[in-house]
Amino acid sequence: MNATTEQVLNHLRATDEYVSGTALCGALGISRAAVWKQVQQLREQGYEIASAPNRGYRLVQGVNLPSALELGPLLTTRCFGQVLKYAAETGSTNADAAELARRDSPEGTVVVADTQTAGRGRLQRHWHSPPGENLYFSLLLRPQVLPERTPQLALVAGLALCRSLGALFPGLSPRAKWPNDVYLNGRKLAGILCGMSSEMERVRHLIIGIGINVNGGEFPPEIADTATSLRRETGEEVSRPQLLAAVLAELEGAYCEWLENGLAPFVEQWNEVSYLAGHEVTVEVMNEQVRGTVLGIAESGALRLRQANGTVREIIGGDVHVLRGKDGRTLFADSE
Ligand code: BTN
Repeated sequence: MNATTEQVLNHLRATDEYVSGTALCGALGISRAAVWKQVQQLREQGYEIASAPNRGYRLVQGVNLPSALELGPLLTTRCFGQVLKYAAETGSTNADAAELARRDSPEGTVVVADTQTAGRGRLQRHWHSPPGENLYFSLLLRPQVLPERTPQLALVAGLALCRSLGALFPGLSPRAKWPNDVYLNGRKLAGILCGMSSEMERVRHLIIGIGINVNGGEFPPEIADTATSLRRETGEEVSRPQLLAAVLAELEGAYCEWLENGLAPFVEQWNEVSYLAGHEVTVEVMNEQVRGTVLGIAESGALRLRQANGTVREIIGGDVHVLRGKDGRTLFADSE
């Protein structure tokens, strides 16, 4: 999509009335045929544009797409999303972002797609990525920190997601589930998948991939009982570009804070919104099953568990299975 298309759209957005072809030609310095071509391109993207002889063109309905045309005017960030690659369809935005990283794309580059044909979650699980409904995006970072610190960024991103959702939807109480999920009313709303390229003491780049179930209503059978979407919880259609702009702004602030002060400033709030706090869980760590009651996260980002013998154990990474809720109810919920 080029700058002229954006200019045509901006003129149409500026009024509820018709904008004459002559006015558009004059303002943009292009021919009538060129204006018509731009309008056609916008229509192909889903914009509903009425045209009437002697009156010109009128924007009837915009699109709920996380494209550059929609996101651009909403971005308040200094860096995140300033380089933005939108694809109507791609395999996986994480794979695309990794490719851009190898081609020296700058920190803050965002890849976003309307649909993914090979969307991936943790442990190579499939990520449900139908078109027209949700957000699938990946953020390229180049933090100058030791590689072992980077798993903390999944926690920072999870909290940033909870903060932005809480601000946009004051009635909702999103919860962060260690290490990389966001839950709403007991169901999974969003997942975070981080990938890194590093040397022993240097991070080359890091990709944070985020999938948020925004307007979806139907889920595949395997997640039908455990997943939810914002639309399902609020009863309203949610603007994907507005949500993405809000999340990127929150992520940028949180990332800068983390670079400067580490995870410490996040721990208290993270534990306040923790989905697992007080739950009895087992964590699969390599070949071991660790069982205990979740206390929260430590300043390192590790999950703190109180074991049956009273000792506190810190887990750096693993798959969590909830055995019993805080209220003692048996849940046997999975971490997917
Ligand atoms: C998980 O919960 O297992 C993590 C899911 C991460 C999904 C997102 S969607 C955008 C990005 N592209 C991918 O292929 N995966 C992530």
